[in-house]
Amino acid sequence: MKVMIIGGGGREHAIACSVAKSSRVDKIYCAPGNAGIAKVAECVNIGVMDFDAQVEFAKKEGIDLCIVAPDDPLVAGAVDAFEAAGIRAFGPRANAAILEGSKAFSKDLMKKYGIPTAAYENFDNPEDALKYLESAPMPIVLKADGLALGKGVLICNTLEEAKAGVKEIMMDKHFGDAGNRLVVEEFMTGREVSVLSFVDGSTIKTMTSAQDHKRAKDNDQGLNTGGMGTFSPSPFYTKEIADICMEKIFVPTVKAMKSEGREFKGVIFFGLMLTKDGPKVLEYNARFGDPETQVVLPRMKNDIIDVMEACIDGTLDKIDLQFEDNAAVCVVLASAGYPEKYEKGFEIKGLENFEGRDDCFVFHAGTKFSDDKKVLTNGGRVLGVTALGSDLKTARANAYKATEYISFDNKYMRNDIGKAIDEA
Ligand code: AMP
Ligand code: GLY
Repeated sequence: MKVMIIGGGGREHAIACSVAKSSRVDKIYCAPGNAGIAKVAECVNIGVMDFDAQVEFAKKEGIDLCIVAPDDPLVAGAVDAFEAAGIRAFGPRANAAILEGSKAFSKDLMKKYGIPTAAYENFDNPEDALKYLESAPMPIVLKADGLALGKGVLICNTLEEAKAGVKEIMMDKHFGDAGNRLVVEEFMTGREVSVLSFVDGSTIKTMTSAQDHKRAKDNDQGLNTGGMGTFSPSPFYTKEIADICMEKIFVPTVKAMKSEGREFKGVIFFGLMLTKDGPKVLEYNARFGDPETQVVLPRMKNDIIDVMEACIDGTLDKIDLQFEDNAAVCVVLASAGYPEKYEKGFEIKGLENFEGRDDCFVFHAGTKFSDDKKVLTNGGRVLGVTALGSDLKTARANAYKATEYISFDNKYMRNDIGKAIDEA
């Protein structure tokens, strides 16, 4: 069959590698893809939001399945557009992707259905938000309602910071229209864990757990980023905690969406915090995580196409989802200066060291080809180096060893990805 993937980052490269392993797939296209994805798929120069061009291309090529990976097109209705043209697509429709597209919606849903999460208030105007903050306990968390490249969350330690945050989000519109509404949320403490799951509208099957490292610098200092590295599984996400999450969070979320007439098919990514009062939802995403996917999919035993089709067809209960009993660590190689100002266009050397390997992988995030077919840096996050190992410590040692295979000017990485493993 012919498969098309929408997106062009490290997550999409990991998805493309999984799809390439399927015996059922003859040809993969990726729009727009990147220099790494080009090794396993034919990249087509169509933007992730250009639904008309995507549908036209899919019709012309006779695509059997489209996988929509990023949040923006999902929330804007990419899956609806494919379905309207009679093309099968993996991912939630817009009316279900709102689970990620509006934090105010997801908080109200959790409240209505008793799903554990931080206490909160939603605000439509800055005056009410400012008045509320006067008597609110600090620290407090401010979240822009809409999509903001994972950056619309401010943790404020003082009333002054919180007031400045309201101005930044609602008045100065730092995150654009995402800041038309504001969620003000209780500050929680605990370990974070990411749990990705396949959902077919009724049945949910969780993938192995992972933990992200969102801050730019070692010891969780510096600005929030799209993610600087991950490990899987999380040793803190025990069987006991997983059972509680399944009963109190995962199944209730899928049921709630169905009850609301917003049947969810695709991937739900639960961002959880393990608090002393039990696991609570930090956020929902309506898609695979980046860079969680880069440590989760290399450990999956199933044919990804079988699983995705089961989600579309409502037959996920028939799938025995299985993961290897090993571990994976991904270290992101970024451009120095990310997530603020950075230079790009530098030649990347050493990529050939990963060819033919099945114990370590290099997933391209921001790369492109030069006219003479060299691979150049083309973004803040450039590559994700993933390595497997029999346990987390071995995987971490392997991943850091593999980062040494790669060189480019202004290469930057965190040196403490997976440090939490030592505390387990
Ligand atoms: P989110 O995009 O909602 O996952 O938020 C980004 C990051 O902000 C999370 O990974 C947490 O580290 C932090 N965060 C979000 N909400 C809270 C909260 N209520 N309490 C403490 N930290 C939070
Ligand atoms: N790694 C967090 C995300 O994909 O949103």
